[in-house]
Amino acid sequence: MKSSAMGFSQRWLLNAAGSFLDSFRFFSAWVRNPKAVAAVAPSSRSLAALITSNVTSRTGPVLELGPGTGVFTQALIERGTKEDDLTLVEYGSSFVRLLQRRYPKATVHHMNAMDIPALAAADPTRFGAVICGLGLRNMRCREVEVILRGAFARMHSDAGFYLFTYGLRCSVPDVLLMRLGLTASRVGTTFRNLPPASVYRIVRSTSVGS
Ligand SMILES: C[S@@+](CC[C@H](N)C(=O)[O-])C[C@H]1O[C@@H](n2cnc3c(N)ncnc32)[C@H](O)[C@@H]1O
Repeated sequence: MKSSAMGFSQRWLLNAAGSFLDSFRFFSAWVRNPKAVAAVAPSSRSLAALITSNVTSRTGPVLELGPGTGVFTQALIERGTKEDDLTLVEYGSSFVRLLQRRYPKATVHHMNAMDIPALAAADPTRFGAVICGLGLRNMRCREVEVILRGAFARMHSDAGFYLFTYGLRCSVPDVLLMRLGLTASRVGTTFRNLPPASVYRIVRSTSVGS
């Protein structure tokens, strides 16, 4: 049945069933690999709106790390990012299959975010923003450094790297930010997420105030 032919209650039921299925997929992935999945349920629409709030249709290509079921991906599209301007990097195979089905025009890479430098030869795209859904607090400092170096090497000079955390501070330690010449600022906090979460924007220190 076409969605235009459906009544409000049928659409509501379909959406509710879709969210339930996504939550189930996410929870199953968490049971298999709690450290990497790092959350028991997908992020809320409120967090998705906050982490994508600086993205516009003028941002151009966007790299998303750890999209999971695609909550942030959907918000990016709603903010004007074209589906074929999206590069999604995810290493959970069930999430990869789901993302390929849902976003057939996006480039979906089934790989570890630490291997971003290996992408460069095949795909020289420069990104206007990076949206990071990875559980950085569960990673070693060295791993976070590799991911940040790889991402910033592929970003425009004034592009932002957006991440969320359930903690009280940015999940990238100050010492690492300093070593990489980066600066973090808080974009905002949402209590409409379980648990409440804050979003940070990381940019090259030279682009602050320029
Ligand atoms: C906290 S979940 C966030 C999912 C989604 N962005 C959301 O907010 O609902 C982390 C996601 O990152 C993926 N992931 C974790 N470590 C990864 C890595 N090193 N490379 C690529 N994906 C990774 C997990 O499979 C999972 O989909």
